[in-house]
Amino acid sequence: MTKRAVYLDYNATTPIRPEVKKLMVEALDLYANASSMHEAGRRAKAEVEKARASVAALIGAANPSSVYFTSGGSESNNTVFMTMLEEAKKSPRRKIITTAIEHPCVLNSAAHLHDEGLPVVFLPVDDNGRIDMDVYGKELTDDTLLVSVMAANNEIGTIEDIPLIAKMAVAKGAYVHTDATQAAGKIPVSVSDWGVDYLTLSCHKIYGPKGIGALYVRKGVPIEPLIRGGHQENGVRAGTYNNLGIIGFGMAAELALAELPEYNRDVRRLRNMLRDEISARIPYVRINGHPTEVLPNTLDVSFPGAEGESILLSLDLEGIEVSTGSACASGSLEPSHVLMATGVGPELAHGSIRFSLGKYTTEEEIRYVVEKLPPIIARLRRMSTVSAESAAVVGHK
Ligand SMILES: Cc1ncc(COP(=O)(O)O)c(C=O)c1O
Repeated sequence: MTKRAVYLDYNATTPIRPEVKKLMVEALDLYANASSMHEAGRRAKAEVEKARASVAALIGAANPSSVYFTSGGSESNNTVFMTMLEEAKKSPRRKIITTAIEHPCVLNSAAHLHDEGLPVVFLPVDDNGRIDMDVYGKELTDDTLLVSVMAANNEIGTIEDIPLIAKMAVAKGAYVHTDATQAAGKIPVSVSDWGVDYLTLSCHKIYGPKGIGALYVRKGVPIEPLIRGGHQENGVRAGTYNNLGIIGFGMAAELALAELPEYNRDVRRLRNMLRDEISARIPYVRINGHPTEVLPNTLDVSFPGAEGESILLSLDLEGIEVSTGSACASGSLEPSHVLMATGVGPELAHGSIRFSLGKYTTEEEIRYVVEKLPPIIARLRRMSTVSAESAAVVGHK
């Protein structure tokens, strides 16, 4: 087989789908300020509201006005945490409960609240990445202000039991937030079925443009602007409407919802094929994440005795684009905080690769990957000073 580009990093971001691209190109001419009162402004505003309804439909929100557009998942998550900082000044409740495996924008927002004097709990997770419900039950006290648990993890794909987590939090009078950035478009998401107060979305994970996202805020719960200014978004998020991004988001959301069953079926079949072929062809691999409660497109694998960055670079030379948990790209050689939280030791965490498939992944691409991968792992293991077998044993804490 000749070298080709095989993109298996859809959890990092997705390409803009052609239908969305076409609509956005047309929307480039819709330059009017959506807050302007003239006809062109009103036309732009109508498109913004149409998109809001599509995003609301994707997350089962009955009222589109509960959806606020933001610049993405990071901003939405920061908005919730900064709202809680304000809320803690007025409320006897102060405790923030989140998990050890959240995206850095949640972890760092929670750490900021801790620095500001609020008690913050980072819940531990089990070997499969699901939160420890016993610890959660004990930590969920009457002074809990917010429970924030991601719907699905970006690295290992584990899906948390948000309906149960939310039910328990609501019974204690706490607000509930979920970061559904990775869940939306991959599994059904419903703010009403889940019973959450706040939900985060990002458009670039669902085949739409970057720099646009949303925050669902249930009517009646507190919300403070992170960006102050004009009256846009009911004063919750100032700044001239990003017509182009919002219109792209609307169509991406509409298509994601319409195609969910088909996407889920197709991507799951290819992910399972990749998982089964890797397990059959390469000894001593460990599949990370939950065996069943996992995103249909995500496969995180540890290859003991081989180093993650070396695997990534070797695959890249073959045109295969994947991710590794350790944050080498950001200048740190720290192993993945997610894998470490699931009890994978640093040796295994350093040798882990995330394959995230998407709607354009083909069977031919998976066949190409399972042909190229085994010799790469074998070569790296030969060069390693630790045997795969012993690394597999010591790698798990
Ligand atoms: C779970 C999760 N939350 C939040 C984000 C941040 O989203 P954005 O890139 O839109 O700021 C990401 C992106 O990687 C993510 O995977």
